[in-house]
Amino acid sequence: MFPRYSQRAAETPLIHLADTDIDVFGCRLDSDQDISVDEALDYLSRDERHRARRYHFISDSEHYVRCRGYLRKLLGAFQAKHPGAIRFSYGENGKPFLRGENISFNVSHSNGVAVCAISRRAEVGIDVEFNDPRRCVEEVMQLVFTPAERHQLQLCQGSAATALFFQLWTAKEAFMKLTGEGMSLHPRQIEIGFDRGRPQRYIRPGDGRVRLDHLSLFGSSFSCHIASAPRGAFSQAHSLQTDKAT
Ligand SMILES: CC(C)(COP(=O)(O)OP(=O)(O)OC[C@H]1O[C@@H](n2cnc3c(N)ncnc32)[C@H](O)[C@@H]1OP(=O)(O)O)[C@@H](O)C(=O)NCCC(=O)NCCS
Repeated sequence: MFPRYSQRAAETPLIHLADTDIDVFGCRLDSDQDISVDEALDYLSRDERHRARRYHFISDSEHYVRCRGYLRKLLGAFQAKHPGAIRFSYGENGKPFLRGENISFNVSHSNGVAVCAISRRAEVGIDVEFNDPRRCVEEVMQLVFTPAERHQLQLCQGSAATALFFQLWTAKEAFMKLTGEGMSLHPRQIEIGFDRGRPQRYIRPGDGRVRLDHLSLFGSSFSCHIASAPRGAFSQAHSLQTDKAT
C-alpha cells in the first residue's frame, strides 16, 4: 500500500509541488510506525484529548490521535515550535487554521492513511479516499455528480469506473476543503473539467484562481486531489473557536 512511502521518513514530503510551493506528507494511522499514540497524545491539547475519548471504537480514537499528533509535529517543524505549542483556530465549518501565521495546511484521512498539505504560498484543500467499489452506487452518483461528470463515468467500467468515481469525489471535496465551506457547498455546485477522460480543472465555481492537482500517492487503491489558490483567497476570516492550551 505504501510502495514509495516505505523508504521515507514520515517528516519527508511525499511530493513537493514546486509551482505552488506545497509539500504533501503522509502518515500511517493504524500502526505506531510514523508516530506512536503515546508521542501524539503528548502533543494534543485538552480539547483534542477530550475529542479522542469520545470515539466509540478505540481504532478511530487512535487514528484521530495519530493524525493530530502528526499534524502538530509537522507544523511545529515548519514553525520552529514545540508541537504542543501549536494552537488551532477553526473556521465557520470546522476548517482548522493557524491564526496570524503565514502558513496554510489541510489534512485528509481514509482507510488508515492520512495526508497533510502545507504551504506558505498557497491556500490548500486536500482529500484522499480509498477506492471502495461498494460506495459507487447510482443514488450517490445522481446526488453528487453533474450530468457531464456522469456521462464521463458511463464511459468507464469496472475498476476504471470506481477509480474515476473517487477521482471526481476527491477533486470536489478538495475544493470544499480549500474554501473551508465543506458540505455547505453542494457537490453539484462544483463542476470538474476533463482532459482525455481525466479530471483536469475546475469549471465552476471559479474565476480561474483555483488549481487542481491529482496526486498519485498510495498506488491504485486510493484517489487523492489537492486544490490550491493564492494565499489569502479563501482565508478563514472568522474563527468560532480556538483550542484551549494543553
Ligand atoms: C470536512 C469535510 C468536507 C470532509 O470530511 P471527510 O471527508 O470526512 O474527512 P477528511 O478526512 O477528508 O478531512 C477531515 C479533516 O479536514 C479538516 N476539516 C474539517 N472541517 C473542514 C472544513 N470545513 N474545510 C476544510 N477542512 C476541514 C480537519 O482537519 C479534519 O480532520 P479531523 O477530523 O482529524 O479534525 C466534511 O465537511 C464533510 O462533510 N464531508 C462529507 C463528504 C461528502 O459527502 N462529500 C461528497 C462528495 S464531494
